[in-house]
Amino acid sequence: MKRIFNKETIQCVDKEVNLCGWVDTVRAHGKIIFIDLRDKSGINQVVFTPKLKSELYELAQKLRPEWVVSIVGKVNKRPEGMINDKIETGEIEIQVMDLEVLSEAKTLPFDIDTDGFNISEEKRLKHRYLDLRRPRLKRNLEMRHKVIQYMRGFLTERDFTEIETPILTKSTPEGARDFLVPSRIGPGKFYALPQSAQQYKQFLMIAGIERYFQVSRCLRDEDPRGDRQAEHTQLDIEMSFVSQEEILELIEELYTKLVKEFFPEKKITKTPFIRMTYKEAMEKYNSDKPDLRKDKNDPNELAFAFITDFPMFEWHEKDKKWGAQHHPFTMPQTDDIEEIKKNPKNILAHQYDFVLNGYEIAGGSLRTINLEIMDAVFEVLGHKKDEIRKQFAHYFEAFGYGVPPHGGIAPGIDRFLAVALNEPNIREVMAFPKTGDNRDLMMDAPSEVTDAQLKELHIRTVKKI
Ligand code: AMO
Repeated sequence: MKRIFNKETIQCVDKEVNLCGWVDTVRAHGKIIFIDLRDKSGINQVVFTPKLKSELYELAQKLRPEWVVSIVGKVNKRPEGMINDKIETGEIEIQVMDLEVLSEAKTLPFDIDTDGFNISEEKRLKHRYLDLRRPRLKRNLEMRHKVIQYMRGFLTERDFTEIETPILTKSTPEGARDFLVPSRIGPGKFYALPQSAQQYKQFLMIAGIERYFQVSRCLRDEDPRGDRQAEHTQLDIEMSFVSQEEILELIEELYTKLVKEFFPEKKITKTPFIRMTYKEAMEKYNSDKPDLRKDKNDPNELAFAFITDFPMFEWHEKDKKWGAQHHPFTMPQTDDIEEIKKNPKNILAHQYDFVLNGYEIAGGSLRTINLEIMDAVFEVLGHKKDEIRKQFAHYFEAFGYGVPPHGGIAPGIDRFLAVALNEPNIREVMAFPKTGDNRDLMMDAPSEVTDAQLKELHIRTVKKI
């Protein structure tokens, strides 16, 4: 008999079914044993009576929470008074005819029927596969899936093409530290894991793709915190022949629809979304990601806003040099090259952030396609022209072959979900997040590797004393 989901039993009254799943709870009423059988789709009450063959009844007496079982049984209407209106299958129960134990389970290291916030995160992350059995986290993963599916559909309908870009790539100047991967075939050389698909998506514009998106993993060697992980997921978008306004409108439509579809209980503070310049935001709120909710105690308020006209450069006091506010590929608002070099402080960029309740949930810009401006920007950033032309040879080469004006944006999916699902941090909406010191406690990564592996990679490690 083909196994069906728990939720499907409501269409099978008086029929025999095969169900598989985990024993959620076991209760005995006199000689009758009840278990709640849990699977991906929900719960069913399963009944064992002493009328069963004795070896089956004895096996049923041994059942413990979290054992994995397969049962065959008849779907019966529950007697009046026994109906449970809290669950979808509350009007039926399964009268067992056969039982097979597929896997026994040790006692779990923690409860999985609570929200889990009272359990230490070390414990939860070490046994994340158990933590994920928790209904709250299951719901988060389901919602994450649905939201991402919706994003894919929304963009596909608007002529976007999803394209994967490499994970093994080259170190880029995006602001964070790169994760490096040694090359076995090129001794002393390294790949970098992508901080974002920034350069690749621009190359796709040069390739004539015009509308690209990707649900892309970005890797940055930063110290994690509540809204930051070493790996995060972006809805990476790039468009050709597009204005800043068109990009913002696309995002506004997407998020308005997403909220309506999946978070109908939420109220958006203002549509069209609030817009303000960086200057205004800093003057009024002293923040470039102000929390613009009318009522900050209301968990159902979403204050989306676009912050525009960021400065092109920011001064790094520590290194006594200019850095790019966003990234060097962003287009300054002036094409006066002398002015860019002379007065970096005054140069604004075609750069925008998308913020929600005090979090930056997307960033983007129009890109420079004029190579002289690009040179000037890199010069301000402290690079010599020859150096840059060498380090970015591929970029400058590509930009010589007919480049459409283009721009894009990259919403961070984790941050949006954390806010929308009222979670205190992004780890709660990720399947396998890392700890505050960037470890995967479940896999025990990072970990040491064998001398043979290091030798093959031409690497010698120095032991820290
Ligand atoms: P940016 O660096 O602003 O832009 O990143 C875009 C968005 O990604 C999210 N984000 C993160 N989320 C969790 N953990 C992190 N460590 C993390 N870092 C970033 C944020 C952020 O707004 N290539 C450009 C985009 C572009 O110009 O099109 C980029 O990556 O929500």
